[in-house]
Amino acid sequence: MNWPKGLEGLCYGGDYNPEQWPEKVWEEDVALMRQAGVNLVSVGVFSWARLEPAEGAYDFGWLDRVLDLLHGGGVRVNLATPTASPPPWFSLAHPDALAVTADGVRLTHGSRDTYCVTAPAYREASVRIARALAERYAGHPALAMWHVHNEYGTGCHCDHAAAAFRAWLRARHGSLEALNDAWTTSFWSQHYSAWEQVMPPRATQYLPNPAQVLDFRRFLSDELLAHFREQKAVLRELTPDVPVTTNFVFGDWVPVNQWDWAKEVDLVAIDHYPAQNPPEETAFAADLARGWAGGRPWLLMEQAVVTYTGPRMAAKRPGEITRLSLSHIARGSRGAMFFQWRASRGGAELWHGGMVPHSGPDSRIFREIRDLGALLPALAEACEAPVEASAAILWDPESGWALQSPGFPSTEVGYLEAVRQAHRVLYRHGVTADFARPSADLSAYELVIAPSLYLLSDDDADNLRRYAAGGGRLVVSFLSGIADGHARVRTGGYPGALRDLLGVRVEEFLPIADPVTLDDGATATLWTEHVHLAGAEALARYPDGTPAVTRRGRAVYVSTRLDDDAYARLLGLGPAAPVESVRRGDWVFSVNHGDREQAIPGNLLLPPGGYAVARVPR
Ligand code: GLA
Repeated sequence: MNWPKGLEGLCYGGDYNPEQWPEKVWEEDVALMRQAGVNLVSVGVFSWARLEPAEGAYDFGWLDRVLDLLHGGGVRVNLATPTASPPPWFSLAHPDALAVTADGVRLTHGSRDTYCVTAPAYREASVRIARALAERYAGHPALAMWHVHNEYGTGCHCDHAAAAFRAWLRARHGSLEALNDAWTTSFWSQHYSAWEQVMPPRATQYLPNPAQVLDFRRFLSDELLAHFREQKAVLRELTPDVPVTTNFVFGDWVPVNQWDWAKEVDLVAIDHYPAQNPPEETAFAADLARGWAGGRPWLLMEQAVVTYTGPRMAAKRPGEITRLSLSHIARGSRGAMFFQWRASRGGAELWHGGMVPHSGPDSRIFREIRDLGALLPALAEACEAPVEASAAILWDPESGWALQSPGFPSTEVGYLEAVRQAHRVLYRHGVTADFARPSADLSAYELVIAPSLYLLSDDDADNLRRYAAGGGRLVVSFLSGIADGHARVRTGGYPGALRDLLGVRVEEFLPIADPVTLDDGATATLWTEHVHLAGAEALARYPDGTPAVTRRGRAVYVSTRLDDDAYARLLGLGPAAPVESVRRGDWVFSVNHGDREQAIPGNLLLPPGGYAVARVPR
């Protein structure tokens, strides 16, 4: 299954930050790791200032001792390059490498991720520290993987960023006239007559140009990826057999196109911090990660022992760490890792918890961590077969970015919300879903959902047509197919690129404040449209009799936001599933997140909060 050598078994551990503790604690750490079954830790994620206390002067002695100790304890090391947090001396020596916000404020060191990824000094320093680490630890028996940087996603609007953005735009658009055309600069007198006039989307008097904002996000994704690749090249050169990864982070602020990045990492790794509904959000994140990994195994690199819910941060409930870890593993993660091993006593994240909490190993949290560590080795066999999914949801981060454009007809509709709803409805009814790129071969799926696929190329629209023509069931929701790759509307009626496939022509968007009831009883909120049938039939209508949900052949169009039950009915789903269940070959993972006993396949009864991984041949 293409899982890197050296990472056999399920990975269990977390971020280990020994530099926060006196050395006498390290021995206890390793002893406790052994007790807990920890076999992999991410070391050095934020250690730059300790590793390179002055420019070009290295102090590896402490890290040598840490790696030797871990190796002696049988713990593998996922060694980080520390580039997510340059030391203060670096910022003072290279003030031009400090990030500048859209409104022109140059940030100061004192937190983390304070750099401009395009600044030459930062790029050079990043490669230098990566090389120094690889030279030092090539061949060290503890070194199992490289963890480049941390949670890529930081942008900058400085002059370095402007120059790099222009270079990127030249490569993308070829000529200034092509850029003017793509960005519709004829609007508001924005026509550029020289490249030097083109800027990152800095603070403006009123709405910025949406195509400029979209291209800047794309540029940041590519620029951050270039930073990753430079480090990866050095690590490959010096340690050709050690896999290289980075940890993807969730959030609609993240300017990272995971489809492009996934091709560059040796394994996909994610950090996941659910907030409102941990089981549903976990399934969502895990299925996405599996999608990015192309169905191959991936790794949950960080989760917390606490849940961050709006204003509150509280320890996960008894059993919850285990259940959520199992849910990730059921959905393809080759293990469960945490932020962090030992809860910090100081620093900005002292309340973020740890596998060893402030109260120490004599604690409910540590006991659960230890029990989970004891459980995992038995699950390896069940993780061999691929996860089985009958449905796919299309994921397009660029559509998400474009739908964040200011000046949109409604601020209440959003890309992530639409994708999450599609996933949630399937999840609640026991259907495992993959996530796929709109250009992917979809023929294996019984059902494909395209939620708010706003930007759609002609080729991708053809791909959807091919899928439907081949007998696939396609459900497209509002705000799909609207714009081309430059966020320009396809005229002649929405949903532009998909009009013929869906057999509808939408004349107007009509966002609504109050819910309306469709003639089939469904509740429609937030968004409605004036839909004309052009080959499709109406499955449900608005109170004024115009079509709301339509079907042409096997292709369904949903022009509004349906309530979850109506969505499930439309998809033809069975009753709600009381237990999370994922099949992998003969094995079925079942997790009961609820508070009632439930029967599961294999004639088993799962107590409230219980789980089972059972061989249940079909
Ligand atoms: C992210 C980061 C960690 C830490 C945690 C806090 O995952 O990678 O460094 O900040 O969040 O929960």
